[in-house]
Formats: sequence, structure tokens, C-alpha cells
Amino acid sequence: MPIPNRFSAYLVTRTEAGSFHGEVRADLTPDRLPPGELLIRVDCSSINYKDALSATGNPGVTKQYPHIPGIDAAGTVVTSESATFAPGDRVIVTGYRFGMDHWGGFAEYIRVPAAWAVPLPVGMSALESMRLGTAGFTAALAVDAILRRERARTAAPVLVTGATGGVAMAAIAILAHLGVPVAAVTRKQGAIRGRLRQLGAREVLTPEELDGGDKPLLKERWSGVVDTIGGEGLEGLIKSTCAGGVVTTCGMAAGNRFGSSVFPFILRGVSLAGIDSAAQPMAERIRIWGLLARDWRTDLERICTETGLDGITGAVRELLAGTHVGRTVVKLR
Ligand SMILES: NC(=O)c1ccc[n+]([C@@H]2O[C@H](COP(=O)([O-])OP(=O)(O)OC[C@H]3O[C@@H](n4cnc5c(N)ncnc54)[C@H](OP(=O)(O)O)[C@@H]3O)[C@@H](O)[C@H]2O)c1
Repeated sequence: MPIPNRFSAYLVTRTEAGSFHGEVRADLTPDRLPPGELLIRVDCSSINYKDALSATGNPGVTKQYPHIPGIDAAGTVVTSESATFAPGDRVIVTGYRFGMDHWGGFAEYIRVPAAWAVPLPVGMSALESMRLGTAGFTAALAVDAILRRERARTAAPVLVTGATGGVAMAAIAILAHLGVPVAAVTRKQGAIRGRLRQLGAREVLTPEELDGGDKPLLKERWSGVVDTIGGEGLEGLIKSTCAGGVVTTCGMAAGNRFGSSVFPFILRGVSLAGIDSAAQPMAERIRIWGLLARDWRTDLERICTETGLDGITGAVRELLAGTHVGRTVVKLR
């Protein structure tokens, strides 16, 4: 596979006025790519909430600009200085510092450390892997945490919050595929609620239908929770979780703080499991991607929109406004 002289990417620059501007550029050269043992030709990437933050100058995600965001990529190894991978190998790259302070997947070519690459599982295409992307991988980690730690499966559903987001829709699809009853909660009204039911949610709630209040414990409603939004509402979810249930937390669109008494933990044995997709060890990455390719395989095409590099600015805007639905895949080839 030839190494290109030039390639296209979505480059974000800081303007003199201090604002941030993303645009598609066709004049990137391989010598500008960061260090790493693998040069990879990208087939597809996908857009996550973290990319929206990186593309708009959030210093908690990216400090150095110009920058190419994109925390996900799937493609083919072009050159390798590692004994683990050879040219032609198909790989997935997510997590670590990829797309944060290391140029990411919104580009036709990337260069990364070999330790960041997961072999594309047998039977999974690059496009299928990016329909999942970090969102699907995170959803699978959350489902795994709930199913592995719960004492016994009850008839109570698993609740998924921020239900029209990428992580949440992937979680609903995976849980429904596994035959686990799912309840979804979304702020959105209209036809999207029907789509959540088609995806596998048995009930679709509004945030107002969740229990709250000052009581230390509430009625046991959820066998587990995939919480993708964080914030003060998390306390009510923990108090409404059945004995032995697991509440997972991965996101913070609704806030990064919450308060809680210890009672759900010491009187019901509820567990709070933090989900960190970026720092998962390689053995765990391979195990989870293997599940997603085989036993947990579910078709996410129905929740995906496909775009090119030129669609990134619009998707970023929607993600930040909380109006984006499902997953957007960026096709580079
Ligand atoms: N820890 C990790 O490893 C990890 C990995 C991936 C993602 N994340 C985080 O998980 C979260 C979800 O990621 P994503 O890619 O699924 O994002 P997303 O597609 O933007 O989905 C987030 C969902 O949260 C809800 N939401 C948005 N703004 C809100 C607000 N102000 N108050 C309450 N709800 C709000 C919306 O759902 P409704 O409109 O349906 O209510 C939205 O669709 C993000 O915070 C992301 O950074 C963490």
C-alpha cells in the first residue's frame, strides 16, 4: 500500500481571537502525524461527545492546536515498526490519548503506538466497528459491569438514561439483544420515543417520571442502571436500584457532581461502577470487542447516520446542543 504525499483531514485551529475553527483540509502530509509504530489508512471513524469538546477547544480534552480530533478509527496498517502488526492487518483504535492530545481519526491516515491497536475481530467489518465506536465499547463495558456483578437476574428492567445518545442507544440495543428488559429515559418528545421502543426499550420515560425526594431509599425499580448523563439525578437512580444491583456512571452532560447517603450501598448492597473506556487494558479491550463481534452482536445501522469529513461540524453542533440522535459514522473511503 503506497504512502500518500498528501491526505485529507478535519483540522481544528485556534484563531488569533482565541476561538476554534474546524475545517476539511486536503493538504496534510504524513510527516506532520504524531509518533507511533503504525501508519494506518483509516476506513471510518465516528463522532463522540468527547470529539465535540475537542473540536471546540475544551482544554480538559485537548490542549494543543492545530489538532485533528476523532477518538475512534478503524482501518488497515500501511507500515509497521512493531512485531505485533504487519501491513495489511485490520485494526480498531480507540481510547488512550487518541484524538485528545494525539491526532485522531478524522483523517484519511493516522499514526499511533502499536499498543493502542486492537485487531479487528473476525467477522466484524470496519464500518460495523465504527457504528459501535467508543460509544458502543463504553455501553458494553457498562452492560458487562451490571451483568457480572448482579447477584441474580430479576424481572426489574435495567434503566438507561440520556436514551437518544450514542452510548445509551448502543446499551439499549445490547441489553435487548441479551433478553434483558430495558427502560429508557429521554428528555426528547416525538417519534424518537417510538424508535427507542423499536430498538428494544420496553418503556420510555420522561425525566419527571423518575423517583426523587429526600427519603434515604425509594421503591426498588431498576435491576441496574446505565447512566450516561451524571448530575444530581444520579442520587435518585441509586436510591431506586434493587438490592444487589449495579449503577454504572460514564458521562456528565447533566453535571459532574451528585450527593448520596450511604444507605443504598449498606442496606441494599447496591454498587456504583465507574466506566472508563479510555484506560481499559488491552486484554479487556480484546474481550469486549470479541463479545461485540459474536455473542453480543447487534445491528446498530438503524441508529447510525453516515457522513464524510464535511459533516463533522454539523454533528459537533448537534452533540453540544444535546439534539444529536444515535451515532454518526465518518466514512473516509
Ligand atoms: N467514561 C467513558 O469512558 C465514556 C465513554 C464514552 C462517552 N462518555 C460520556 O458519556 C456521555 C454520553 O456520551 P455519548 O457519546 O452517548 O453522548 P451523546 O450522544 O451526546 O448523548 C448524550 C445524551 O445525554 C442527554 N443529554 C444531553 N445534554 C443533557 C443535559 N444537559 N441534561 C440531561 N441530559 C442531557 C441526551 O439524551 P436525551 O435527549 O435522550 O435525554 C443526549 O442524547 C458523555 O458525557 C460522554 O462524554 C464517557
